[in-house]
Amino acid sequence: MVIEIVENVYWVGVVDWALRHFHGYELSTPRGSTYNSYLIRDEKTVLVDTVWGPFADDFVANVRDVVDPATIDIVVANHAEADHSGGLPAIMRHCPDATVIVSKRGAESIPGHYHQDWNFKVVGTGDKVNIGKHELIFVEAPMLHWPDSMFTYLTGKNLLMPNDAFGQHYATARRFNDEVDQGELYEEALRYYANILTPFSDFVIKKIDEVLALGLPVDIIAPSHGVIWRDEPLQIVEKYKEWAAQEGEEQAVILYDTMWQGTRHMAEAVGAGLVAEDVPYKIFYAPVADRNLVLTEIFRAKALVVGSPTVNRGYISTLGTYMEDLRGLGFKNKIGAAFGSYGWSGEAVKMLEEHLERCKIKVAAPGVRAKWQPTADDLAACAELGRAVARAVKGA
Ligand code: FEO
Repeated sequence: MVIEIVENVYWVGVVDWALRHFHGYELSTPRGSTYNSYLIRDEKTVLVDTVWGPFADDFVANVRDVVDPATIDIVVANHAEADHSGGLPAIMRHCPDATVIVSKRGAESIPGHYHQDWNFKVVGTGDKVNIGKHELIFVEAPMLHWPDSMFTYLTGKNLLMPNDAFGQHYATARRFNDEVDQGELYEEALRYYANILTPFSDFVIKKIDEVLALGLPVDIIAPSHGVIWRDEPLQIVEKYKEWAAQEGEEQAVILYDTMWQGTRHMAEAVGAGLVAEDVPYKIFYAPVADRNLVLTEIFRAKALVVGSPTVNRGYISTLGTYMEDLRGLGFKNKIGAAFGSYGWSGEAVKMLEEHLERCKIKVAAPGVRAKWQPTADDLAACAELGRAVARAVKGA
């Protein structure tokens, strides 16, 4: 259903209630998503971003509810990823002479995806396009989260359309931030930040400062996923600055896998040590956990304690994806530790510690290994490991 978000600016996107995985199967989306597209009616008719390809027909129908698609003069493609550009071919069939505005890197990525000879116009930060009573102003936002990413600002409405930034994979019946459950909204905004934007945190702070320095009033922030921030829109900007600092909360994540429950008992003993020193924790069993939820919780926490039995002279394969995520996401200001049971050679704990250090997660205390099933002494050593990590979390 089309919504007029301010006079003559319409949300013409789609809600994908069924989506459970995104980027292929790389990212879980337990609350679905939306692909937001905005239609502006001025002397010129402007479309900002489109939707994912499978929804192109619904999208074109939404546009048609407001205008004849053939009358579109300008299409802004803020970012080439298919969830926003997938509807371009369908809409451009109706308005083949429309100007397609892209960033400098978008001039590579949009043609690279669609191989169409559209009428491209390349813009950079501060460039303006007059559309009648109002202007579009563009801000390049490389690495938020692709090199081609761009923000589009509409004067007069004080409307910032920052594409992926400030978005959430969150399907809802209502379109605005003040109309939805605040707990769910912030869970999804944080999951989005932690799993997609963390590697670019330095750029986040720099870009936010750059946008604020332009002195453009912002009454509405309309991202390309999830709800539109109209109630105190800068609250999400402040939250991004806080998340980008990656200070972490005084809590811990214990992530483990186990073959015959020995490493599970050790995980629980580590938890007992943490909570004895008043550091709350969550335990995740790697094979069945929602990987992106685990990564979000690691992002929030100051400490990560990882447990694995030794298998084939290494740590168990289910932890491999998480270890690769830790390398790629590059979380900052974390401490870590490792533990695990073993039967013969027992390399897993050392290998986990080495990997944590490679990920710049400082090992706070020597790991604990238990041969075969852990003894009472082994479990006591795990509890002491938990206490040591807790003391490090508190800076003691
Ligand atoms: Fe970078 Fe929502 O795509």
